[in-house]
Amino acid sequence: MLYILDTANIEKIKNCIEYYPVVGVTTNPTIISREHTDFLGIITEIRDIIGPDRMFHIQVTGNTCEQIVNEAYALREAVGKNLYVKIPISKQGLKATMLLHREGFHITETAIFTQQQALVAAKAGADFVAPYVNRLDNIVSDGVNVVHEIVELFNMYKLESRVLAASFKNAEQVHKISLVGCHAATVSPEILDSLIYHPLSMYAIDDFEADWKNVYGNNSVLDLLKNDTEK
Ligand code: E4P
Repeated sequence: MLYILDTANIEKIKNCIEYYPVVGVTTNPTIISREHTDFLGIITEIRDIIGPDRMFHIQVTGNTCEQIVNEAYALREAVGKNLYVKIPISKQGLKATMLLHREGFHITETAIFTQQQALVAAKAGADFVAPYVNRLDNIVSDGVNVVHEIVELFNMYKLESRVLAASFKNAEQVHKISLVGCHAATVSPEILDSLIYHPLSMYAIDDFEADWKNVYGNNSVLDLLKNDTEK
């Protein structure tokens, strides 16, 4: 499963790509607006930080096919390759998806809440569909099950589209979608931290350190190996 970062915060992106195996960044208008800064400036800075090989999913704001297509071309001009144009599901969005797909764009159909929205988007040419797990859970609609059934549909019909689960509020949701074969998850830096956090891991590391120091003092593995080869 691919891990993708769901933020536009420059410092958090720098930190996460240094420490975690993230393969891209996703944004939406809410995420961008939280940074209160120049749009072109922030997307070009994110592209510089993540490099040309990571995916960069940026959402359009236009409501008509024509506006969406024009925005897609302008976004490609701004951030270059590995752009995934995020298009919210709608009739105009699907028309734009089919058109842009034919013109070689990568598309992520977003704001997906049902299995049939996902299937139609995939048939229209979306590379990814983004179901909103936590927002589904909030309305007692079992986000993990929706993701599971979309994965099953894509496998059943041998579709190339992949499922990029989004909208997480805890590690349990991420774990559950990973168990059903979801292809990718976009998560906040805080969720990413919580995926690797466990107090027992920290205790174990502290115990290793204390036991080692009891016998070898402040010498590291490297110190001891160097001393041995110098003898
Ligand atoms: C990502 O692509 C989605 O837009 C995002 O995960 C939605 O998350 P939210 O439900 O926390 O706003």
